[in-house]
Amino acid sequence: MAEAYKIVDHTYDVVVVGAGGAGLRATFGLAEQGLKTACVTKVFPTRSHTVAAQGGISASLGNMGPDDWRWHMYDTIKGSDWLGDQDSIEYMVREAVPAIVELEHYGVPFSRTEDGKIYQRPFGGMTTEYGEGPAAQRTCAAADRTGHAILHTLYQQSLKHSAEFFIEYFAMDLIMDEDGVCRGVMAWNLDDGTIHRFRSKMVILATGGYGRVYFSATSAHTCTGDGGGMVARAGLPLQDMEFVQFHPTGIYGAGCLITEGVRGEGGYLTNSAGERFMERYAPSAKDLASRDVVSRSMTIEINDGRGVGADGDHIHLHIEHLDPAVIEERLPGISESAKIFAGVDVSKEPIPVVPTCHYNMGGIPTNYHGEVLTKLNGDANSVVPGLMAAGEAACVSVHGANRLGSNSLLDLVVFGRATALRCAEVVDKESSHRPLPKDAGDAALARLDKARFAKGDTPTAALRTDMQKAMQSHCAVFRTEDSLQEGIGKMRQIWSGKDDIRVSDTSMVWNSDLVETLEFENLIEQAMLTIVCAEDRKESRGAQARDDYPDRDDENWMKHSLAWIDEKGAVTLDDRPVSMQPMTNEVQSFPPKARVY
Ligand code: FUM
Repeated sequence: MAEAYKIVDHTYDVVVVGAGGAGLRATFGLAEQGLKTACVTKVFPTRSHTVAAQGGISASLGNMGPDDWRWHMYDTIKGSDWLGDQDSIEYMVREAVPAIVELEHYGVPFSRTEDGKIYQRPFGGMTTEYGEGPAAQRTCAAADRTGHAILHTLYQQSLKHSAEFFIEYFAMDLIMDEDGVCRGVMAWNLDDGTIHRFRSKMVILATGGYGRVYFSATSAHTCTGDGGGMVARAGLPLQDMEFVQFHPTGIYGAGCLITEGVRGEGGYLTNSAGERFMERYAPSAKDLASRDVVSRSMTIEINDGRGVGADGDHIHLHIEHLDPAVIEERLPGISESAKIFAGVDVSKEPIPVVPTCHYNMGGIPTNYHGEVLTKLNGDANSVVPGLMAAGEAACVSVHGANRLGSNSLLDLVVFGRATALRCAEVVDKESSHRPLPKDAGDAALARLDKARFAKGDTPTAALRTDMQKAMQSHCAVFRTEDSLQEGIGKMRQIWSGKDDIRVSDTSMVWNSDLVETLEFENLIEQAMLTIVCAEDRKESRGAQARDDYPDRDDENWMKHSLAWIDEKGAVTLDDRPVSMQPMTNEVQSFPPKARVY
C-alpha cells in the first residue's frame, strides 16, 4: 500500500448502510427497539433517491372503490410474470395496509379525497377481481411528490428516535470472517478523509439500485449499486440481474421521470400519426398496461418509423386535455420538470418521452425477513449470518421479472421494517462482540489505495461512459443473442480498461474522482452480471424481452438466476427455485397463465 491509513473504530449492534426509504425505516425501527444502531450514508438522508419517487405507494385500502389484498397479490404476481416469490408477495401486500396507516400517523401529507380519506390513483397493472374487474385505484399519493413526502417523514422519525447517523460516509466493503459471517463494514468519511471500521452484529444494506449502469436513467447519479458491489466482492451471488425495468416515460434527452400517475390521471401516449397506439397492444388496460408492456410498445412504434420528433425517436405524452385544476393539484411536480427539462407547457403541448432505465428488479437475494441468502451445498436458502438487505438493493423477490409502479415505495417501507423486526429476534443486545479477524478491512483499504494512486491514461468517466453506452445499445428493452454477445465482448474490453484508469486527485477530502472510481467498480460488476445473465436466459419474461426467444418458457426458465463474479470479471451462473407457495393458507397459489392486459 502506498499509504498507511489510520482507522477509527466503532462498535454497534446493527449498521444500516443507506438512508433512503428502506434504510431509514430500518434505522428507526431498530433504534425504537433499543438496538444500538448506526446509519452510514454517502448522501444526506433527504437527498437519497427515494426523494425522486413521484406517483405513489400501493395498498388495498379501498378508499376509492372496492379492493382486496388478494387482488393486489394477484396483480403483483402477474406483473412479475410469475417470477416473484408468492410468500414474499403475500407478506408485502398484507403489510401494505398497516404500513400506509403507520406512514399517515408518522405525518406523511397524503393528498385527500373530498371526505378526507387518503387519495388513491390508478397505476399500471393494478386491477380488481383478479384482473377481471376495472382498474383499481390503489396507489396512495402525495400529489406527484410521494417519495419526497415519505423520505422527509421517515428522516424526522429517525431523528425523533435519536438514531445515529454517519452522513457523507462512503461504504467501501463488508468485513467478512473466515466462516462467511459478516462482521461489519469499512467506510470513508468524505468530508475529512478519515477511514472508519464499523463492527456490528448485523449489517443491513439499503443502498438502492444500480441504474447508472445505463446511459439514460431516471436514477440519480448516486445510484451506483454500492451494496450489490460489496456483496459481489464478498464472493456472494446476486439474483435476477437480467431484469431491468425501463420506465415508459422518461423525458426525452434528459431522462428525468414523468410519473405513471400522469396516465393514471388520464394522460395518454401517441405516435407520429397522432394515434393512441396502446389500444392496439393492450386493448383492455391501454396506457395503463404494465410498464414492460408499454415500454416495448413504444419501442416498436419508434423502430417501425412511427416515432415523433425530427429523428422520429420518441413518443408524445398528452395531458393538455386535463382540467388545469387537476394538473395543479395532483401533478405540479411533473409540470415543472416538463418546463425545465423539455421546455414544454403541459397545458398546451405534449411531453416528449422515451423508455428510460428506472429500476433493478434483481439484486441481493433475501427472504422476506431481509436475511441475505446464498447457495451452499445445494441449499439455495442458506442465510448469510450477519447480513441483511432491503429496498431496491435487495431481491426479495417481490417484483420478479417486472415491477408494478408504486410497489417500490411499498417494498421500501415494508421490508425496511421487516429487517428491524428480524434484528430484534436474532441480534442479542447483551452479548459482547467477537473480536474482528486480524486483517479486517485490509482488502478495502488496498482497493481504495490502488484506485487512489491509479496512474493509467483513461479517466474513470470515459470508461464509465463506454460501459453505459454498451449497456444501452446491447442490453436495453429488446435483446438478441448477437447483440448480447457483441455487448459482452465490449464489456470485457471495458473491464480490462480498468487496469489503465487514471485518478488525478489523490486527496482524501471530497475527492469526487476517487469516489466515482469506487462507484464505477460497483457499477461494472453489476453491468457484467446483468448482460451475462440476459444472454443466458433464453426466453422472454417481464422486462427480459428476447427477440429470438419471444415466448415465456416456464418449463426451463421459471427459476431465479444466481450469478457470482470474480476479480477478473468472470461470471459463474446457477439458479434457485421460485417460491410458488404463499405465506399462509388464507390464499391459494396463483399458477402461471398467459399475461395479457
Ligand atoms: O411513475 C412513477 O411515479 C414511478 C413509480 C414507481 O416506480 O413506483
